Amino acid sequence: MFDRSAEPVGRADLGGIDLPTGSARGLPGRLYFDPAAFDQERRTIFRKSWFAATYASDLPAPGDIHPVSIAGWELLLVRARDGAIRCFHNICRHRGMKLVERPGNAQRISCRYHCWTYGLDGSLLATPHLGGPGINQGEGIHPEQLGLREVRCAVWRDIVFVDVDGVARPLDEHFRQLETLLAEYELDGLQLAAETTPEQEVPFNWKIQIEGGIESYHLPWVHPQLELPPMGYRFEADPADAFIGFKTPMSDAEMKRRAAGNGASEGPVLPNFPVIDAKISRGEAPQFLILFVLPNVTAVVMPNYLVLGLLRPLAVDRTVVRRKFYYVGAAAGAPGLAGTRSDIARIWHEILQQDIPFLAEVQKMCRVRDEAGMSTRFSPYWEVGLHMFQKYVARNALA
Ligand code: FES
Ligand SMILES: [Fe+2]
Repeated sequence: MFDRSAEPVGRADLGGIDLPTGSARGLPGRLYFDPAAFDQERRTIFRKSWFAATYASDLPAPGDIHPVSIAGWELLLVRARDGAIRCFHNICRHRGMKLVERPGNAQRISCRYHCWTYGLDGSLLATPHLGGPGINQGEGIHPEQLGLREVRCAVWRDIVFVDVDGVARPLDEHFRQLETLLAEYELDGLQLAAETTPEQEVPFNWKIQIEGGIESYHLPWVHPQLELPPMGYRFEADPADAFIGFKTPMSDAEMKRRAAGNGASEGPVLPNFPVIDAKISRGEAPQFLILFVLPNVTAVVMPNYLVLGLLRPLAVDRTVVRRKFYYVGAAAGAPGLAGTRSDIARIWHEILQQDIPFLAEVQKMCRVRDEAGMSTRFSPYWEVGLHMFQKYVARNALA
């Protein structure tokens, strides 16, 4: 799967990423098209630090099992009887079969090849005919040493984060500054809505999807239906590399449009986050909060709903995009708001469809722009966050 012959991308391949944003040069194209570079990210960003595997709500009930292929890893998420989520490598301890192919609900997990059977806690429960017909034990095979190999995991909001090497600092410590930033939004009362966007595989590197979402510079040309935000962008990066975020001010007209579901619906109005109403009553301009929870989650706090997006890198040029939507309390399920929630999901889906041809084109050009000896550049106003993101990749993935 991975080409190990190529030299890793190193800091010497950077053409000035640490210069001020307007003068800086972007990451080399090779980080976007070379399978060896994907492997390099897999062994760094997607191994030594926390990354998002799936949504906790993908495993709502005890006994739910959920396989995930992500960044070259094969993981198995399990909701145990006590409600806790655990993660294992989705690899049989016998001859290495992929253990679970599809999500389901089970009491125990049996390998299809020779029927070694595991409990939901990963313990090896049965090894039928191991020592000969009708003999279920074998000399030298100690089941207590052959449970599924566990991967450290922890849940943040509705996202299950994993730490494959188990060396990252605890997740609550990692997200301390993120939680401080989110505290004023009172996100605890949010509930998941059923209306969502379809899971979609896109033909480009996971970083291109992040970079397409972290700047609003392209709005007038790619999404003419969206308003270019007024001046006042403010970027914030976490020195501990947990997130990059920015607050975008909102005009009054935009605020009113958003309140009715991005202007898609003339129907009933969604309740705002209490903090937004408080700001409006004090005469302050409300803001969007857009967060990139590194490396592969986007969290967009709108005035009246939260979108959690999750990117699943499949290969250097293939990524799966997912989104789930969360509303203030009962607004998540109120039948009278179903049309508005569907409109919101549809609009997010349409925005992605508008982005895809551009992002796919950027992907296609990565090799030739390297070969032509050209580096990308950043807008010193709109692309400060994008520059922060590329510096994060350079710090964490490059030798
Ligand atoms: S590979 Fe799983 S039981 Fe043999
Ligand atoms: Fe876009």
